[in-house]
Amino acid sequence: MLGYDRQLGRSNPTYGFRMQTDDLKSLESILLAEIAASGDLAAIEAVRVAALGKKGRVSELMQKLGSLPADQRKAFGAAVNILKSTVTAALEQRKTTLEAGALTARLATERADITLPVRPGPLAEGRIHPVSQVFDEIIEIFADMGFSVAEGPDIETDDLNFTKLNIPPDHPSRQDHDTFYLRPKADGSRMVLRTHTSPVQIRTMLSQKPPIRIIAPGRVYRSDSDQTHTPMFHQIEGLVIDEATHMGHLKWCLAEFCKAFFEVDDVKMRFRSSHFPFTEPGMEVDIDASAIGKPGKWLEILGSGMVHPKVLANCGLDPEKYQGFAFGMGLDRIAMLKYGIPDLRDVFAGDVRWMRHYGFLPFDIPTLAGGLSS
Ligand code: DAH
Repeated sequence: MLGYDRQLGRSNPTYGFRMQTDDLKSLESILLAEIAASGDLAAIEAVRVAALGKKGRVSELMQKLGSLPADQRKAFGAAVNILKSTVTAALEQRKTTLEAGALTARLATERADITLPVRPGPLAEGRIHPVSQVFDEIIEIFADMGFSVAEGPDIETDDLNFTKLNIPPDHPSRQDHDTFYLRPKADGSRMVLRTHTSPVQIRTMLSQKPPIRIIAPGRVYRSDSDQTHTPMFHQIEGLVIDEATHMGHLKWCLAEFCKAFFEVDDVKMRFRSSHFPFTEPGMEVDIDASAIGKPGKWLEILGSGMVHPKVLANCGLDPEKYQGFAFGMGLDRIAMLKYGIPDLRDVFAGDVRWMRHYGFLPFDIPTLAGGLSS
């Protein structure tokens, strides 16, 4: 490049131009020296701005171009451009060297001692809510018995929440003071906040062919609020439909569930006859609370029964061919039983102190092999 400059100088032997090419050369050596002398990234940036910045020395030379005689402009412009690329390349190279040096220096000084214990970060602060934990525990238990998880919406049709479940039009559970209704639609039909997870039974039977084996965990809503009731709570529904399903299967399934859930070898259970419009027969299930350290006390944990033939027929299944059982369990209640939570309202209060006490660490994922609640 320098040779080229000289050549230019020789072919244009005017005094002014020679001055300018000499200026360029000395500017080049000054800048290259400054680049070589910059000791850190801030210094190299300062050199760059002073040379190539808007008001930098090289940029100013370009502005001078206009004042040169026309015959010199082209050659001078080319020479300045060459200067510019020489300086740019030198800047880049120096910057790379300095960056590599900075990295080496950081690596030498910043050492991680991997033998130290893990610092408690945000992960150790966060907690899994006991309700979520219990959902996961129950899903784990039923998945092991071959159930899959089904879902339905919180806002449900009156038909699926009540009618298809054989709940008559005048049934008390349909009344306004128990059920949250949405504003009626133009055709007069009303949507409801589902009052139980049982409509997921209907959704499943309408969309799947037997054999069916599902559980449906989720939120449910009832117009109720006191020490043991909140307007929103959680249930888990179970449904098994096949050609030869009987009450022995129901009892075995619930007994296995209770043993696994309460993590004990044996649970005494009591099946009390009860009535639900969607079962025939229907039963409420109590457990002997010695499983949770309160012997002699019976605690009701769920409703269950054989699916009513009318419900099967409502879903297009032939009751002569198919039978099945269903159950519905209050999830918050059994979470409280298992983990000794005294007041239901605290479960939904969102108090971090409560969460710190009753919550679970995110890595404590319940598994049957590793333990559900350990
Ligand atoms: N849906 C009932 C309730 O919310 C609980 C229930 C009872 C569900 C019996 C069932 C069942 O599946 O068979 O009170």
